[in-house]
Amino acid sequence: MGADTQKESIIIAIKQKIRLLNVIAAFIVVTLLAVIFRYLYKPAGDVLSFLPDISITLVITFVVFLTIISFYMWSVVARQIISTIEKYRNRIDQILSITKDLREEKYADILLNKIMEYSLSITRSDSGSILLLENNNLVFKAVKGERSTELLSKIIPQGQGIAGWVAQRGTPLRIADVRKDERFNEDIDAITRNQTKSALCVPLIIQSGVIGVIELLNGKGNFYSQRDEEIITYLADQAAISFTRARFYEDQKNYEMYITDILLDAIDYHIPEKKEHSKRVAIYSNIMAKAINMSEENRKRLYFACLLHDVGFLKIQNKDFSKREYIERHPVIGSEMISQINFYADIAPFILYHHERYDGFGYPEKLIGEAIPLEARIISIADAFDVMLSTISYKAPIDFDSAIEELKMNAGTQFDFRLVEEFVNNITPEQIPRISSF
Ligand SMILES: [Fe+2]
Ligand SMILES: [Fe+2]
Repeated sequence: MGADTQKESIIIAIKQKIRLLNVIAAFIVVTLLAVIFRYLYKPAGDVLSFLPDISITLVITFVVFLTIISFYMWSVVARQIISTIEKYRNRIDQILSITKDLREEKYADILLNKIMEYSLSITRSDSGSILLLENNNLVFKAVKGERSTELLSKIIPQGQGIAGWVAQRGTPLRIADVRKDERFNEDIDAITRNQTKSALCVPLIIQSGVIGVIELLNGKGNFYSQRDEEIITYLADQAAISFTRARFYEDQKNYEMYITDILLDAIDYHIPEKKEHSKRVAIYSNIMAKAINMSEENRKRLYFACLLHDVGFLKIQNKDFSKREYIERHPVIGSEMISQINFYADIAPFILYHHERYDGFGYPEKLIGEAIPLEARIISIADAFDVMLSTISYKAPIDFDSAIEELKMNAGTQFDFRLVEEFVNNITPEQIPRISSF
């Protein structure tokens, strides 16, 4: 809506200038016709006889003079039109780059501060705030001005101040002198201790309604134009969409963390002797991932895969833990459980293949070498290393050096030799978390 109104006002400005050009052109034509009829075309001369008799030289001089003046005026107006279009294009470019930046921001807090900064710089305001609706009250979420620390997180009861008025009605408000406006509230709206004069406040609206407001004070020259209102309204529309998306993203991350924690607790509860095993596997895997310069995004994915690599045990009863045919099903069961959850789906293969061997004698699919996903090859080493150091009912723990030797002995057969090398070169006894069982 904002962009449309802005486009309209630019079109009106250009139309006005074109109209002026038409008036100039019409004036020249009428004047020339009058000169021709009066001095050169005798039959019509009588009608224009009130014009004095003058020599043809003077007529020509007059026509030349008129033509020069009109060319000059044409070029002035044309230049004005071009500069209006250029200004409009620059503004559009600026808005597009701001919109892109806002759209790409994932974190709600950073996003709010960006919206604040952009709004202030576009309107050259000296202070401003973003307030969001929480339980029907407005809360200061981003504040720029002298009272920023005092106001941040402050709650405003519904309907109070300029911000409250805008939030309640969902329409923008532009005030030239707030002291003369009864909606202005010193406690709420005066973000700066310098005298506040002009104010511009626009609502942040999404489909379900108003979610907050952007309030700006003391714009450039202590004045907000119609164009300021239009551009901030457009920015607010984009900001509201981006903010909703960022919140959704944060909610999902929160959900992922809690689901993972719940599953981890369930695994530890189900197999108490392997308590914290998954977290240690994550630590060892990360050492290898860093050593081979794995990207941060892939390391994060690997981290979740490590935490959940043995999740399949949840569907195997304790009494069957000693039976090989049951044990060997846990990667398949685990990957099937995980692949149903969208945000875990891409780690399912790492869980499925974490017991494959580099030489092809592992399970469940007997994949060989590089056919086993890199992440699964990493988990396999970390997993074996942790099992060696831990006390588990069927075996006694071995010390750090012996475990390293064991890994080296199996490099190229059970494990990817390159990854074993990276691991043994980068792991130190200090990096081993305290294991309650040894
Ligand atoms: Fe496993
Ligand atoms: Fe494991």
